[in-house]
Amino acid sequence: MKTRFLNIVLKNHIALAALLVTFNPLVQAAPTPDQRAEALLAQMTLDEKIGQMTQVDMNALHDKADVQKYALGSVLSGGDSDPADNSPAAWRGAVDEFKSYASQTRLKIPLLYGIDAVHGNNNVDGAVIFPHNIGLGATRDAKLVERAAHIAALETRAIGVQWAFAPCIAVAQDARWGRTYESYGESPELVSRLGAAAVRGWQGKQLSSSSLVLACAKHFVGDGGTQDGKNEGNTVCDEATLRRLYLSPYVAAIKAGVGSIMVSFNSWNGKRMHHNKYLLTDVLKGELGFKGFLVSDWDAIDQRSGNYRNDIASSINAGLDMAMVPYGPMQTNSWEKNNYITFITYLKQLVAEGKVPQARIDDAVRRILRVKFQMGLFDQDSADPALLASVGSAEHRQVARECVRESLVLLKNDRKALPLSKKIKHLVVVGQAADDLGLQCGGWTIDWQGKSGNVIKGGTTLLAAIRQTVSAETKITFSADGSGLKDADAVIVVVAEKPYAETKGDKKDLTLAPADLDLVNKARQTGAPVITVLYSGRPLVLGAALESSDAFVAAWLPGTEGRGLTDVLFGDQKPTGKLPRTWPRTNEQLPQLGNDRAKVDAQFPYGFGLSY
Ligand code: GLC
Repeated sequence: MKTRFLNIVLKNHIALAALLVTFNPLVQAAPTPDQRAEALLAQMTLDEKIGQMTQVDMNALHDKADVQKYALGSVLSGGDSDPADNSPAAWRGAVDEFKSYASQTRLKIPLLYGIDAVHGNNNVDGAVIFPHNIGLGATRDAKLVERAAHIAALETRAIGVQWAFAPCIAVAQDARWGRTYESYGESPELVSRLGAAAVRGWQGKQLSSSSLVLACAKHFVGDGGTQDGKNEGNTVCDEATLRRLYLSPYVAAIKAGVGSIMVSFNSWNGKRMHHNKYLLTDVLKGELGFKGFLVSDWDAIDQRSGNYRNDIASSINAGLDMAMVPYGPMQTNSWEKNNYITFITYLKQLVAEGKVPQARIDDAVRRILRVKFQMGLFDQDSADPALLASVGSAEHRQVARECVRESLVLLKNDRKALPLSKKIKHLVVVGQAADDLGLQCGGWTIDWQGKSGNVIKGGTTLLAAIRQTVSAETKITFSADGSGLKDADAVIVVVAEKPYAETKGDKKDLTLAPADLDLVNKARQTGAPVITVLYSGRPLVLGAALESSDAFVAAWLPGTEGRGLTDVLFGDQKPTGKLPRTWPRTNEQLPQLGNDRAKVDAQFPYGFGLSY
């Protein structure tokens, strides 16, 4: 009886205590990120505020102590900015060193480290490399895209990097554009759906996860619509078209909670995006209510009139919050060339002269600080060391393998050439690309431009995957140049674009390389079924290569997990991929395909894809 009485008293005391805490005006609720940002902003000097607005590339910081000296808000690793040893552990050490300088500043504002993890944490050796976005577009699978981004986030945060310059939500219209493969496809609806899923994968439900990262939707706005697909060129269209085609994915990304947006190099109707106050401030921050911060693209402020000082004023006043000023005084051949010290010096002068209002500086810094507080960086920023062990793990690779499987688009399958039997007696595999991880992964892999060869640890080429798939009795002949193909029961020909990134990928003629056509024709002469697999960042003009193939698979740029290809080629998985963009029959169709594709007699329409 007594115990029961005591229990009732105890329960009532707990309930009373909870009520007191909840309603007691003396017990303060934890301050919000906005409140914490406001309180910190009030303590900052102008130098510290301008430092927060400055992002510098790691290669430009010959004196890492400049992070502390200038109270820099962010450091990045551009496509080719890696520590000498690019193992995950060495990356972690390099990033932590930069962070340590920020922690020695007066206000100890945590450093935000950014990297182009655009298809996995692709600068880092041993990371899992996913299909580039064009392949993810072919999956149509938002849940899978979210899982892929989640894994990439874990492998990014594992090295201490808390910010990925992804997803690219360009709606690429003209396949001659060198960044076509960074776009999920030509449809704004598809890009909106997958872009929002990627943001959720990168950031989680809210920004505070210590194992995920800040996402960065890019490049705002209209990067995929430039005339003739010219990278960083001019997008010419009326505002209604701009909103329908290129702005809509940002509405979805903001709804998904994206914390940062990167401004695009391109112009809209002749006006450079980095100086377009209407779109950066009135539309993006006003009408769409974007509460995160805007970062520039690589040295993009400096790509305008040639008067850097005026360009800084114009861009910051247009609504840019953080400038990616990648160069340092040691990297330029004279003091006058622009670097992070000149940026900081000029911006301070512009504020003193009233050419950049203090209120604009405060708005920019408030946005940056708010995101850093939302991310929990002030509370703790040392990611769990166990994350490091998960980089390249079998579990992560399994997700990427699933992405590869679902990304493959079967364009042709005559003579029931596919699926192949695992018990096939003599399989001939033709083409250097069949055993080349660099060609399988494409650009933004270890090197900015990517390159051929065994570029990354832990990957599986298609040839290796075939060897792991077929029976012990199967004879495999590999011929890089298409010689010695006799007695084949089937021939797999693997052809590939050479890797590229950004402007280096702009191309007027998308015809399949003659050497690749030659490989297909050699395979044809055997009389055996010919299965052609294409690694490319976009549709190519196939001509006779398609006619000479019994089966043809568009594999895009699949990444490290070659087993995803054999899962489909040998029938463990039916092909389900659908074209994320219209496939041209000729080069002459490209201009119209880039503008109004409705009346084009394309090789294959958007959404095409066969199955077994
Ligand atoms: C590049 C790209 C952008 C990338 C940035 C940092 O020029 O335009 O996508 O995030 O610079 O590497």
